[in-house]
Amino acid sequence: MSARVLVLAGAGGVGKTTVAAAAAVGLADAGARTAVLTVDPARRLAQALGVTGLGGRPAPVAAVPGLDAAMLDQDERFRELLARSGSAELAGNPVAAAVARGFGGLQEYLAMDLLGELHAAGGYDAIVVDTPPAGSALDFLDSADRMARLTGHPLMRLLTGSSAVLGAGVGLLGRVVGGRTLAEAADFARAVAPVAEEVLARSRAMRAVLAERGEVALVAAPAAEPLRIAARMAAALADQGLPPRALVVNRTHPVPAALAGAAPPERLTGADPAAWAGLREVHAARVALAAAEARQVARARRRLPEPALLELSSVRGGVAGTAELRLLAGRLAPLLAG
Ligand SMILES: Nc1ncnc2c1ncn2[C@@H]1O[C@H](COP(=O)(O)OP(=O)(O)OP(=O)(O)O)[C@@H](O)[C@H]1O
Ligand SMILES: [Mg+2]
Repeated sequence: MSARVLVLAGAGGVGKTTVAAAAAVGLADAGARTAVLTVDPARRLAQALGVTGLGGRPAPVAAVPGLDAAMLDQDERFRELLARSGSAELAGNPVAAAVARGFGGLQEYLAMDLLGELHAAGGYDAIVVDTPPAGSALDFLDSADRMARLTGHPLMRLLTGSSAVLGAGVGLLGRVVGGRTLAEAADFARAVAPVAEEVLARSRAMRAVLAERGEVALVAAPAAEPLRIAARMAAALADQGLPPRALVVNRTHPVPAALAGAAPPERLTGADPAAWAGLREVHAARVALAAAEARQVARARRRLPEPALLELSSVRGGVAGTAELRLLAGRLAPLLAG
């Protein structure tokens, strides 16, 4: 049985990395051999897992038996990709680097490629993928199609075309990559086609795996804008044949307990009327916040009736390590159950 792949996507800063880490910890604790990958160059995943750093290949997380973690190392993967295609010498070629940067979404292709490799190696029961904010996550899931568009891109055809065409295109190329020499461009052109074909083949294979074994969970904060972004992403994902399985509304605040009695409790306030008024004000603000969040969640529910809706409460003091991740993992049980 091939690994299930769980992809976390959503707007910036809503908790994708945290939820990915929590989901991975929950899966590993349930006995699944699990890998968690982050495409996000930020160090959040390492921090949340309580490890000092993450390498480009999955390595065991000491605090969580059965869990490996990795952070995509884009440069390393690009060098490996070139080497695999017999073009290692291109790694230092400035035209190759410039064109690669110009692709847009190279990070996503390389992440998909790494995911494909791990999936094909068959060492895991579950692979959890954290993604960069909204648009990029779609790029990631869509990378096979984008790769196909890339290989048909006029610039690519120009580079891989006959030397006469290449010669005619050098002016254009110079403008695109910043005046590189024809020799460098020709080097790149000779090697880039097989590289692109290989990535295309691998990302297509991975797209098929995602269609069959992939699940997407959207993460949003209980606020209008992130939930709107989640709704848009849900529609785009459904168009790609990957309707999200769950919407995780992260960092909600509970309705606070009622303030008992109308009179100030003396031991709390020292019978100071100003302190009591302040306390009531804070309490009222918490009640209003919980009510506003509940309205947003209800609205999201109406907008997105399909995916399971899971709420994760805000952990006081933040998510600093595996204890907090396990707390959140408990709330993700319906998503993790498979
Ligand atoms: N349930 C929670 N309770 C408390 N703090 C949380 C919770 N979820 C996330 N956080 C905190 O919110 C911040 C943002 O979380 P995280 O880095 O996971 O978001 P992200 O969506 O991955 O961000 P980015 O889009 O920048 O990659 C972090 O400081 C994290 O510790
Ligand atoms: Mg992140």
